[in-house]
Amino acid sequence: MNNDIERVLFSQEDIQEACRRLGAQISRDYEGKKPVVVGVLKGAILFMVDLIKEMDIMTEVDFLDVSSYHGGVASTGSITLNREIETDISGRHVIIVEDIIDTGLTLQYMLNYLNAHHVASAKVCTLLDKPEGRKVTAKADYVGFNVPNEFVVGYGLDYQEFYRNLPYVGVLKPDVYSE
Ligand code: XMP
Ligand code: MG
Repeated sequence: MNNDIERVLFSQEDIQEACRRLGAQISRDYEGKKPVVVGVLKGAILFMVDLIKEMDIMTEVDFLDVSSYHGGVASTGSITLNREIETDISGRHVIIVEDIIDTGLTLQYMLNYLNAHHVASAKVCTLLDKPEGRKVTAKADYVGFNVPNEFVVGYGLDYQEFYRNLPYVGVLKPDVYSE
């Protein structure tokens, strides 16, 4: 599995440091607010676990499952809602936790979803941001790292459902998906 990685972008230590920084920042911003932290399945699971441990506030956790990739390395643009948030989020402060923001289409879809459910506020915390990939205007409130316009895997991010369990984020060798 490690042989399929061209280079490591962010080590386990880099990621832990980012989680500590973002967790502290969110804790300050949401002091006394009891937000609902919503992880986007499946890519955000590892980030979600490490991030919430660094949040020193009362929070609920839930998950939302939306997909736009369907196994390839480029966004299809059509978004499927596979699982809704179970918590009653009406009137609540919601923090979406994402693995990566690329075209911005998924984020745009989720923000519309939250608005339709009349949340008190909606913010987004993403481990990775790929600003060059944007097709629509979309901005994350909390960002771990910016990444170049390359396909990355690991720490929750997959290629055809594999590589999610890598403890770091790396660039996949192009020959792995061009075969
Ligand atoms: P959009 O394009 O809607 O994409 O902003 C968000 C979702 O697309 C997936 N994504 C990636 N997954 N490596 C991955 O493993 C990547 O480089 C990558 N870029 C986007 C991801 O699931 C994210 O939630
Ligand atoms: Mg995803």
